[in-house]
Amino acid sequence: MRSFFDPALVERWGVAFIREDKIDEALGRLIPNVRITKGHYKYPARAEQRDLVWNHMDQNHRPHIHRTYGDAMRLHIGAESAFSLTRFGNWPFVVPVFDAYYKDNGFYQVVCLFGLVVIVNFIEARSTEQGTHMEIDWAIASHRLLRFLHPMLDRRLQRLNDVQNAEDEVMREQRVALRASGYRFVTDRPDFVNSNAIGNNVVYPPLTDAHSLSVGDLREGEVRRVEIDRRAYLLRRAGDGLHVWPAICPHEGAVIGPEHVKGNSIKCPWHGLEFGLRPLRPGGAPVTVCGASLTLDGTTLLICTAGTP
Ligand code: FES
Ligand SMILES: [Fe+2]
Repeated sequence: MRSFFDPALVERWGVAFIREDKIDEALGRLIPNVRITKGHYKYPARAEQRDLVWNHMDQNHRPHIHRTYGDAMRLHIGAESAFSLTRFGNWPFVVPVFDAYYKDNGFYQVVCLFGLVVIVNFIEARSTEQGTHMEIDWAIASHRLLRFLHPMLDRRLQRLNDVQNAEDEVMREQRVALRASGYRFVTDRPDFVNSNAIGNNVVYPPLTDAHSLSVGDLREGEVRRVEIDRRAYLLRRAGDGLHVWPAICPHEGAVIGPEHVKGNSIKCPWHGLEFGLRPLRPGGAPVTVCGASLTLDGTTLLICTAGTP
């Protein structure tokens, strides 16, 4: 069974990826008269290494966060790898993209342009005494007659990494802020599967106490964002009751504001999930939002641990 196993591959957790030091040799065998151009990019970040890894594995944010990114047809998502056909912007131009988590905190991202140019990105979330950073190296490979394209592609990759890392900051910074106030995530040990699952991945910190908030001054139809004990809610007056939405997204923790209310739903800016309103009536049944139980007593909102009467 192993007779066709390429010795250039190394096994990791039961799957195998090509060794870094074998890639040039393999590209040389694959492409006659190959010319390979190397590039390098570094971006300082504040988030933890595991959050940078999650950010790279999470593919669903890309059409929402990145202007350079159009859409993707996902063909495979496994714990250690993913394969998509990806469209950049609105160009009728689709490229196969293979992502592999081939070492701790490190990825290959392999792209092929028109079958003529192969780009192998080596993406690593690094941690040093100075903090964390993304370190990206790449190899652009083609027949030597196409080497005139390499400098242009190299500049394009520099710019793309600059733009996309800057756009990702909003997610990374929020992850830092939430961790600092006691949040955890189902994706604390990220893989491609849990990072792309659309579920409640936020683990809210426990409430420190029961709380009450007067909402008597909320006007009919007005939406207000309120923060209570490390949680946040959107409240909208509806007659003598309230409409309630989470203002920290239960998926991965995005900040949601009144501007994200569309009719009776909110649309999260990070992955586009929509959440319907939870109605609260004075003296009515409690609702659980952001891991806490909310009731309305007249014009006072009461917040306590879910399951507490
Ligand atoms: S954080 Fe993913 S949809 Fe809100
Ligand atoms: Fe991103």
